[in-house]
Amino acid sequence: MPTWKEKLAGRMDPQIAEEVDVFETQIALRKAGKMDEKVFAETRLRRGCYGQRYDNGHRHDGVRTQQLEFPSDLTKGPETFWDAPGMQRIKIPFGGLNPDQLDTLAELAEEYSDGILHVTTRQDFQLHYVHIEDTPNIMRRLAAVGITTREACGNSVRNVTACPIAGVCRSESFDVTPYAKAAAKFMLGHPDAQGFGRKFKIAFSGCREEACGLTSLHDVGCIAATRSENGNEKRGFEVYVGGGLGAVPQQAKLMNDFVAEDELLPLIQSIGRVFARLGEKKNRAAARLKFLITKLGLDEFRRLVDEERKILPADSRWSSYIPDVARYQESPKHGPTHLNGQQRPEGFEKWHLTNVYRQRQEGYAAAAITLPLGDLTAAQARQVANLARRFTGDNLRTTVEQNILLRWVSEADLPDLYRELGRAGLGEPGAGTILDVVACPGTDTCKLGIASSRGLAGEIRSRLSERLFALDESVRNLHIKISGCFNSCGQHHIADLGFYGTSRTIANRKIPHFQVVLGGKWQDNAGAYGLAIGTVPSKRVPDVIDSITARYVRERKGTETFQAFIKRIGKQECRAMIEPFMEVPAYEKDRSIYSDWGDPREFTIGDMGVGECAGEVISVSQFDLADAERLVFDAQLQLEHENYTQADSLAYRAMTQAAMALVKTQFIDVGDNADVIVAEFRSRFFDTGLLGDRYAGNKFAEYLFRRHDSPPQEHTIDQAHRIIEEAQLFIEATYACHDSLAERGARGMVVAPVHSGKAAGKL
Ligand code: HEM
Ligand code: SF4
Repeated sequence: MPTWKEKLAGRMDPQIAEEVDVFETQIALRKAGKMDEKVFAETRLRRGCYGQRYDNGHRHDGVRTQQLEFPSDLTKGPETFWDAPGMQRIKIPFGGLNPDQLDTLAELAEEYSDGILHVTTRQDFQLHYVHIEDTPNIMRRLAAVGITTREACGNSVRNVTACPIAGVCRSESFDVTPYAKAAAKFMLGHPDAQGFGRKFKIAFSGCREEACGLTSLHDVGCIAATRSENGNEKRGFEVYVGGGLGAVPQQAKLMNDFVAEDELLPLIQSIGRVFARLGEKKNRAAARLKFLITKLGLDEFRRLVDEERKILPADSRWSSYIPDVARYQESPKHGPTHLNGQQRPEGFEKWHLTNVYRQRQEGYAAAAITLPLGDLTAAQARQVANLARRFTGDNLRTTVEQNILLRWVSEADLPDLYRELGRAGLGEPGAGTILDVVACPGTDTCKLGIASSRGLAGEIRSRLSERLFALDESVRNLHIKISGCFNSCGQHHIADLGFYGTSRTIANRKIPHFQVVLGGKWQDNAGAYGLAIGTVPSKRVPDVIDSITARYVRERKGTETFQAFIKRIGKQECRAMIEPFMEVPAYEKDRSIYSDWGDPREFTIGDMGVGECAGEVISVSQFDLADAERLVFDAQLQLEHENYTQADSLAYRAMTQAAMALVKTQFIDVGDNADVIVAEFRSRFFDTGLLGDRYAGNKFAEYLFRRHDSPPQEHTIDQAHRIIEEAQLFIEATYACHDSLAERGARGMVVAPVHSGKAAGKL
């Protein structure tokens, strides 16, 4: 039998074919122990091969739990073997693909993974449970249909994203598709983009107001803009830099209000060069472009980029694609028609209401295929490919809401399309509504996941699906986004209702929790980031959603948006709204809360203090940590009232309080002097590596040290927002450290019965 390499010879881009051969050799070298694991890890990441958690052979897909066949000695969590089945991310620039490519993806899902194709929050596809040895053939088969996995992960230029309705949008300045495509091609493997300390994300949007491109959360965000010059319309972009989510999110800042189209690629290249030269390399936590811009200041950064631009050697690729831009066109399969008079199948109206977008081009529509949790099976993918062939003229796009969009559907074809989608199990309404919950992989497959984002998303979906059209319209169109941990791959900051996973320990048992993040804004290209207002057990989150949305409907003033409502009622009230759901019943009373969604096993099994006395056993430090949480919440209130100085000072106090909580586990008489607390904390928890859990290292401690050593010169909304985020993360880290010490039965832990109140240990 010929190998794939032989079969596909001549059908792959020669450079990619060679790169894949090299990668195959690198796998062999790693296997033979002749390649350093760290080097191999970055090598495979740059080819899109991620390590993956695989829950002892289980996979929960939000609907059911599948049993997967894997060798029994492979384990869940970070200690998985280097060659254990992993995740393969497949880059889909601007989410655009054709039916043949989708067919290939279906084949690969079936042959090499668990038969499921997953659409990510950045328009990529992912296959899970893929064996590293199969990846070269996967890459070859993708290359043969014009897809690469190169730089899908790693410290590189990640997938270039764009509005999925670019080109058919009714409010865009112009179609950004060819520019996104050119940028993706130009930066792929570019020598100036190989020396980054961290990933680099580019996004395109056709307008400023809508959310589609999410430019505010990207390292480089390009928004289409036009100018009139000598009576001619000139195309260009507003360019924003330094945005990003992750643990400490930052909004991108306007760097240039009009970059002419032929200057766009050299500008991106110059930004890349400055980032590669001056960006942080050692400390991953401070390595994104946003940190460099904060350090240098936007003006200085702009100056450096301008200087770099001046000395760039000219490159014909900067503008060679531009003559083709005008010719770029997607051809529909059928002529324009109207829906009038068509027989409409049952359920069509609802689907039409939520899933169909009337294109700018008269007689055409774009139809979203709702993919619950972003998943579709290989068989469904083939059906979608066939429907695209039949109805659209081959135009498919993935969306950041983890759906697939069929563009250029002639309107009269919509009922037939709906019928066919229904047959494939893909005819659900609700795209872009509260039902369309976005979730990162979470504990299902991500090694860093703390709580089950997908399990929760599946639960919310099934609870709301019956009621979707009975919900008030203002609630129906809210966005829910969930991340399994603070890293925010599920983009929880920009949801109306955002959640990120965390855990809390009560009576020595761990309970999966979610931080509730309110105030984020999806419109205006992710115009505002929300802040966490408190944690609730995972199992209470659906009730929290019901309670908050019901109140919104009851108290909404006129056409008030959800963000405006949240702002009006204030943080204190928001917190009060979730407080009834924060309580954790005793294990004996309600065990369900001690396990996560979709996973009947106990979250973890504690071995200390269970049933020791009538009252639960709570350490003094836990009280102090709770106080730290309160302080950071007070800081939020001050931020809300624009008292930035107080917000900063409270957030800082919250950090010292949390540090003190840990110090007290070893040194009860530490006192309340901040210098002493920080010095003791540094020597006992930082220098010893005790705080540094294996995921976040000691990075969160740096937030405390930085604020302690150099208080801010000026107090701004950005500074206050940032220090609150940092304080929250630092407190999470101290909780994690406290819990792990407790688990290890650390000596010297001071405990007090819960009923004795907060007698000791207050600042
Ligand atoms: C320190 C580690 C990580 C950080 C800071 C991080 C951060 C992020 C952020 C901020 C986003 C998306 C938001 C955006 O830019 O649109 C993202 C996307 C994503 N992350 Fe992570 N992430 C980390 C590790 C992981 C891991 C271990 C996994 C699971 C294997 C994962 C899975 C994803 C997925 C599936 C996406 C959507 C992706 C895409 O197509 O690029 N992330 N990550
Ligand atoms: S947010 Fe956390 S759990 Fe979710 S994919 Fe990212 S790192 Fe994993």
